[in-house]
Amino acid sequence: MSDDSTPGLRAAGAEADARSAGPGARESAEAGAKSAEVGAESPVLRSEGLVKTHRGEGAPAHAVRGVDLSVRKGEFVAVTGPSGAGKSTLLHLLGGLQRPDSGSIWLDGECADRWSEARWAVERRKRIGIVFQFFNLVSDLSVADNVELPALLAGVPPKRARAERTELLAELGLTGKERSMPGELSGGEQQRVALARALVNRPPLLLADEPAGSLDSKGTREVMRLLSRFHQRGQTIVLVTHDARLASAADRVISFFDGRIADDAELDAGTPPRRTGISGVLELRD
Ligand SMILES: Nc1ncnc2c1ncn2[C@@H]1O[C@H](COP(=O)(O)OP(=O)(O)OP(=O)(O)O)[C@@H](O)[C@H]1O
Ligand SMILES: [Mg+2]
Repeated sequence: MSDDSTPGLRAAGAEADARSAGPGARESAEAGAKSAEVGAESPVLRSEGLVKTHRGEGAPAHAVRGVDLSVRKGEFVAVTGPSGAGKSTLLHLLGGLQRPDSGSIWLDGECADRWSEARWAVERRKRIGIVFQFFNLVSDLSVADNVELPALLAGVPPKRARAERTELLAELGLTGKERSMPGELSGGEQQRVALARALVNRPPLLLADEPAGSLDSKGTREVMRLLSRFHQRGQTIVLVTHDARLASAADRVISFFDGRIADDAELDAGTPPRRTGISGVLELRD
């Protein structure tokens, strides 16, 4: 538990303190106007005009250049696009792990613009599961502890956390690895542990960044099966993937290109996507 600066542990919510997450005065003043959006009709997730530029040592990277997005409850959305297009940045913004330079995000109709880090952490613990592209497991915790941690932090009784963990690891073909440390696992195994960790609290919203990026076809099938099961239970999924098989399991495919949504297509089961934007990004038919 000493590695509390890792994004994995942050995602698990360890840095949060619910008591420090009260709304500010301006937030309260805005609450009336914004509450009109809360209700059965609200999208689970909405963004408007999201912009994020990374400013590091090199030239600024305009990773997200104005994204308007609305995800309905129960939707399974795949986000696909070339390397460097800004997919991970977008997912990090939507999960509150990075702050946009401008633009707004609503979760279940509630505007998150003024949420503190702590408030975001609390909300993630309650309603958002995140699978990182590079796993971010806590290296000095066993597989079992990594998966159970978010549940325990959320106050789930240890017995139930253990039962959930056992079931998820079994579904992902990881039974027997409970006592292993992340460093003793293959990349694909770590990836599946990261998925189990994101799902253990049964979050209404799952944000997953390449959850099958290191997996062979058997592992990819296991991930697909698990995601489909969660989707059938009504969970909303936003999945970044290069994998056409995974993308084709979604209801809707968004092609992300150069920081923008280039194409947004609803998929009907069994039929090729109806394309609405520029071509050349989405390759579902092979
Ligand atoms: N922390 C950072 N500091 C500086 N630049 C960054 C940072 N993170 C990402 N970038 C840059 O922002 C752009 C978008 O990166 P991002 O990781 O969002 O792309 P991606 O679509 O997820 O790519 P991939 O498919 O390779 O994972 C890239 O040009 C990248 O180099
Ligand atoms: Mg990425």
